[in-house]
Formats: sequence, structure tokens, C-alpha cells
Amino acid sequence: MTLDFLGTLQRTHLCGDLRSTHSGETITLMGWVNRRRDHGNLIFLDLRDRSGITQVVLDKEVSPDAHAKAEAARPEYVIAVTGVLRKRGEGLVNPNMPTGEVELVAHSLLLLNDAKTPPFSPAEDAIGNEEVRLKYRYIDLRRTEMQHNFALRSRVAMAIRNYLVSQGFLEIETPFMTRSTPEGARDYLVPSRVHPGHFYALPQSPQIFKQILMVSGFDRYFQIARCFRDEDLRADRQPEFTQIDLEISFPQMSTIFAVAEGFLRAAFSAAGIDLGTEPFIQMTYDQAITRYGIDKPDMRLPAIVDLSATLTPELRDTLKIDPTLPVLGFTIPSVGELSGTARKALLSEIRAFFGDSGLDLLDLTRLRTNETFAPLAEAISAKLSQELQAFHQASHNQQPTTNNPASDLAVVITPKPGTPALWNYDPQWIYKRVGALRLDLAKKFADKHKLFDQTHTAADFKFLWVTDFPMYEWNEETKTWDAAHHPFTSPHEEDIQSGALVNDKGSVRALAYDIVLNGTELGSGSIRIHRKDVQSEIFRSLGMTDEEAKARFGFFLDALEYGTPPHGGIALGLDRIVMILAGAQSLREVIAFPKTAKAIDLMVDAPTTVSDQQLRELSLRTVTRS
Ligand code: AMO
Repeated sequence: MTLDFLGTLQRTHLCGDLRSTHSGETITLMGWVNRRRDHGNLIFLDLRDRSGITQVVLDKEVSPDAHAKAEAARPEYVIAVTGVLRKRGEGLVNPNMPTGEVELVAHSLLLLNDAKTPPFSPAEDAIGNEEVRLKYRYIDLRRTEMQHNFALRSRVAMAIRNYLVSQGFLEIETPFMTRSTPEGARDYLVPSRVHPGHFYALPQSPQIFKQILMVSGFDRYFQIARCFRDEDLRADRQPEFTQIDLEISFPQMSTIFAVAEGFLRAAFSAAGIDLGTEPFIQMTYDQAITRYGIDKPDMRLPAIVDLSATLTPELRDTLKIDPTLPVLGFTIPSVGELSGTARKALLSEIRAFFGDSGLDLLDLTRLRTNETFAPLAEAISAKLSQELQAFHQASHNQQPTTNNPASDLAVVITPKPGTPALWNYDPQWIYKRVGALRLDLAKKFADKHKLFDQTHTAADFKFLWVTDFPMYEWNEETKTWDAAHHPFTSPHEEDIQSGALVNDKGSVRALAYDIVLNGTELGSGSIRIHRKDVQSEIFRSLGMTDEEAKARFGFFLDALEYGTPPHGGIALGLDRIVMILAGAQSLREVIAFPKTAKAIDLMVDAPTTVSDQQLRELSLRTVTRS
């Protein structure tokens, strides 16, 4: 087949833009053949570009030449067509297409390029194999859904940028080739040719640079920054990802919250969602753990309820419940009525979930049938439904309530006597286990009952701030205290003054906060340490000698000595924001060229080996680890 040259032909419109108001106009479209239907003398081509699809009609009688070329055209061929737009006849209008009222009657057609039969058709909605999608990403990205995701991503990023600039932020770039930044993952390293045996590290975040920009007097910095982390990947983690990173001088925590809320409102508005003007709710880390059993609560479900007060010591004794630990319960609303068998299966699943951790289930249905325990069952049900009502009230247009308590699933968990000894006494452990069960069950029923399906109105997005994170985390492996956020985070002033920093690290609270959306951590930040003496003390408390601190962060400690203002900031994952807005299940749906869970780019086939010559220049030799 001979291909045509484009010559001087110019496109006049985009495929998705044509309406009946354009009828009668001579129009030139260019794009890909989405589908082709051959009715002999009439051929219909659905022509696709980024904006949508228009039906093109090739009539042998109108233009034999164009018709002949359309006969040769196949899906994904690239063509240009010129013709006159007309309204479709009675009964031929397609109400499912924005351009469904019109069609282009072509009088000329150029075959600009042919296409091999693609491994999958971008015209199909559901594509099974993700590996094939990633290998032929350019075809995958042609799909309407993907085009939509990236248009959304672009709009969201632009809205955030505009908002931050309007608030006096300067966009400043920071280096990719730098030295290790302590965000807790492994670094990607870049060998230096000029300095054999020396490596740059790709930044895990611009953390130190943005703090130094505050020392440099820039007052308000932001960057839509690429970060690199070599860590275990999950659906919401990629080895390179993008942060909306910002830092502010002389802030209160509320200053930072207001800015982040402001740009989220702008971002959501760019996606057609009005988040209103109410400030996001806030809770402390301890409240999050005791109410939701997790530091990133999913507020689309009712909270955990402490039912301890409903149990007298005698009842605990009879029911074999540990006297010192709380009895906790929660409700998963609207799961539907369970048959006897389903209920039994569920109970044993939950018991398996707890394993031999000392936690057990209280079977409310059985209690109800027993005269002694029936009042207890009533009291528990009353407390749980109180919480459920409060929940429904707080989230007005959340899932409709069924008003049928039998369709809500109530779960009550009791610790067996002696349980504390099993857990190396972490008083929060019971909350965390119960919190994990709550999410597990919610997920189990979510698909069936569409608990979390809708992400279209503001009420579907439950934001919150979690504050006062612990400063340190005990690392059981190394038997050391690690920084829970990063080592530049400031402890509460009282905890510095009280000496807890030295005497009781486990109790030290950090001026650190997370922003959480529907159970996903969107962002983290903190008020930073701006004094050298405090920073040195924190490094020491993390087990770093002064020499080590100087070797790793000497430049930063030096900078702190030249007039560093109090400062603080935050970074939010742009990919995660767009993923949630797009209703996608994985970051790979909103990153144009993502990596697999094994950190491979299947399209370009990276990482690869390199030539001996390249290795020699870098003074590197590879060894195979056994
Ligand atoms: P943190 O490490 O919590 O904080 O990261 C902030 C946000 O970045 C996103 N994120 C990721 N997104 C995709 N893939 C990953 N591998 C990944 N890792 C993190 C998350 C997360 O909430 N320098 C500090 C911020 C600060 O203190 O200002 C930092 O990077 O949405």
C-alpha cells in the first residue's frame, strides 16, 4: 500500500468537538481509525484523537478514491479526512457519543501511516494483561480512560501551581544528583566518573534543600518535585514519584494546613469537585489509634467503640475477658443480612485473623439468647448504634442508612486473660489489631455492597489531619530508636524542656502531621528544628555520634548556625491525589511510564546491563552475589 504525504493540509477541528452547529462546514480531521465498518459502497470509520471520536462516512459514489483508501484502512491507521459535516438521519443519532448527532461525509482521505495489528485494541475498555499494557504503553495510553487520567493530572498540577503562586510561593528546582537524604528508604545511586568510587544519590525528597532555601530567605518555596526511593513497591508506591513539596518560614502548623487545604480545594475543583470551605478535621495520633486503630483513619466507616464500661468485673470474669484491657467493637454498615452459615464462616474467619494473639470474638447473637447475658448484648448494641448514628449524622450524604440494624455487621472483640504478656506490652496493640480487622472486613464487603464505590461528590472524600505523631519509633531489629518522620522534625517544645528527649524517648511527641484521605496517606510534614543545639541533640538521640552527624550533615548543621528562621512544611504525593481523583486502583494508571512491582520499565526494558567500556570509565566492576 502506498502512504500519502501530508503536504500542506491542516487540521481544522478535533474529532470530539463537532456538533450539529458545525453542519454544512468543510472540515479536516486527523487521527487514528478506532473502528471500521464496511457496508460495501458505504464504509464507516470512527476517527479518534485525544478529544474524542467522530464518525466518518465514505460513500463510493461521493468519492471513489477516498472510499478505496478506506477499504485499505485498518484499526490504528493514521489518516486525514476532509469532508462536509452533516446531521445524521432520523434514528441514526447515537446518544452515547458527544458527536453522535453528526457525521463527516468525506471527499478525500489521506493514509498517513499504517499500523500493525495492535496486541490489544485501544477501543476496548477492559484490557486484561497489565504487562502487555506496560510493554506497549503508547497503545495503552491511547485509551480514552488513560487520556482522561492524564488530562486530569495536567489540570490538577496546574491548579496547584497556580494556587501556590497566588499565595506567594516561589517555584525553585533542587538537584537530582545529590547526597543521601534520610527518608527511610534505600537510595538510588549514580556513580561519578570524575571521582572514582564516589556516588551521587538521587533525592528521596528535596527535604534538606527546601530547609536550606528557608535559611536562604526565600520565605515560601514549592516544587512539583520528582523523588526516588528504592523500596518495596505496592499499588500506591512507585520508585520514582512526584511530590507537591513546600516549605514556609515563620509558620504555625495552622499556616501550613491552610495552604495544603487551599491547594487541595483548587486541585479538586479542577476535577469538578467542590470541597466547600470548612477546614478539614484534625485529630491527634493517639486519638486516631484509639478511635480507628490506625494512623490513617478511613472516615468512610464508623469508628471503633470502647465497650469496656458495659462490662462489670464479674461479667469479665465469667466471660473470660482480661480485666486490664479494653473491649472494643465496631460496625460495618449495610453489609446485608447474613445467613446462619455465612455468619459462622465469618466468625471463624475473624478468629483465624486473630490467630493466637489472645483476641477473641464476642458472639452477640448467642449472648442475646442467654438470660444472664441478654442485657449485656443490649447495652453493647445500644452503644454501637449510638456511634453508627453519630457517624451517619456527621457524614450526611454518605451511604444511605438502611434503618435495618440486621443489615449492619456488629463486631465485638475481647482480650483473653493474660493477653498483655503476649504483646510485649504495647497498650496500643489491641487498637491496631482491631483497626486492621475493621479495614479487612470493610474491604471484604465493600465490593459486594459498593461501600466505597462513589468518588464523585465532596462527601465521598473524607480528609483529616493527624497531628502529634510520636517522635521516635523503636526498631526491634537494631534495638535503636529511629526517627518516626525524619530527623529534622521538631519535638514539642515541652518535651524538650521536660528532658523526655533523653529520659523517655517513647513519650516524645513530634510537631509532625499527616494529611489522610479515605484511609490513604496523602502527605506528611512537620515543623522543623531550626536550632543547631537541638538538631545535634536529636542526631545524638538517634544513636549518631557527633562525628557521624558532622560527616553526613555537617553542611546542614553549619547552615543552621547562620541565622535560620523557624520553618516548617509538607509534601503531598501528586500521583496519589490524581489516583484517587481518577478513581484508579494503582499509581500506574496515572503515571505515564511507570515501573512494575519489580521496578522494571517494561517498555524501554530498564534496568539493563551496561558495556564494559562504560563500567571501566566509572571505575566499576559488577559482581554476582551468591
Ligand atoms: P514522606 O516520606 O511522608 O515525607 O512523603 C510524602 C508523601 O509522598 C508520597 N510518597 C509516595 N508516593 C508514591 N510512591 C512512593 N514510593 C512514595 N513515597 C512517598 C506520599 C507521602 O505522603 N520530606 C518529607 C515531607 C516533609 O517533611 O515536608 C517526605 O518526603 O503521598
